[in-house]
Amino acid sequence: MVTGASRGIGRALCEAFAGRGATVGLVSRSEEELRALAVRLPAPSEGSGHEILVADVGDRDEVAAAIDRFGEVDVVVANAGVADYAPFKDMDLEPIERMTRVNWLGTVYTVHAALPGMLERLRGHLVVVSSGAALRSFPQAAAYGATKAAQRGFAEALWHELAGTGVDVTIVYPGEIATEIHAHEHDSLPTWRTIAEEADAGQLARRVLTAIEVNERAVYYPPFVQALRGAHGLSPRIADFALRRLRGITAAPRRSP
Ligand SMILES: NC(=O)c1ccc[n+]([C@@H]2O[C@H](COP(=O)([O-])OP(=O)(O)OC[C@H]3O[C@@H](n4cnc5c(N)ncnc54)[C@H](OP(=O)(O)O)[C@@H]3O)[C@@H](O)[C@H]2O)c1
Repeated sequence: MVTGASRGIGRALCEAFAGRGATVGLVSRSEEELRALAVRLPAPSEGSGHEILVADVGDRDEVAAAIDRFGEVDVVVANAGVADYAPFKDMDLEPIERMTRVNWLGTVYTVHAALPGMLERLRGHLVVVSSGAALRSFPQAAAYGATKAAQRGFAEALWHELAGTGVDVTIVYPGEIATEIHAHEHDSLPTWRTIAEEADAGQLARRVLTAIEVNERAVYYPPFVQALRGAHGLSPRIADFALRRLRGITAAPRRSP
């Protein structure tokens, strides 16, 4: 089951899962887009077909009902997400609340609804799609980065907490991936956020499937994201220096004294 299935990374994940013969539960708010995708997917190797599960992940009852309708979920991917980039001082609270509801609470509602069945069956795999922004938050993405860091903290704790239950956890840290997440704000994106270097969602999806199969704790894609994590973990100053060289001054405008 994949949330945010209608576009971008979620759609690529559905294609990858269906390519392996899985029955996919496609969750998002856009019924037509989900239907169009479901008929294009390869048929599952068993069962009656893929399932369209229209739900807003920011609504706990809708998510719980979708998971209920689907039945036994082997793998759930909390992927649905929205982004609004702007200097925090210029932002209204509405987009911040929306990102919190969809990115963070949407993940909590999804996992909360899927986990009891997995624990009962003694098996399952939770995948949380966070972001490189959870590892080093960027100017103009203070609120977005915070929602992604919340997912990281949540999934890292679950990875330990669920030890021995048969339920595994993988956290995904995408870098810049070619999707429509910034389509509504292309003209106002900060200059460090390059569209030209975006990576392919299909490749990320295939990486995630491999990670599930071999039970990897985390996926960093493209590999630059892991270097960012290492540099920032070592010293934020080093990460700032590298980001200024690679992405310009807007990526790290303030210099440490
Ligand atoms: N693209 C990147 O560069 C990038 C980088 C790092 C992390 N990520 C993360 O990757 C995930 C997927 O993003 P994407 O780039 O694939 O974005 P996208 O192309 O805009 O797709 C977002 C998906 O989320 C769904 N969605 C949005 N609000 C929803 C809601 N309230 N309830 C249910 N579904 C909802 C959308 O479907 P409907 O509109 O039909 O509901 C759509 O299917 C997000 O969590 C994002 O933060 C993306």
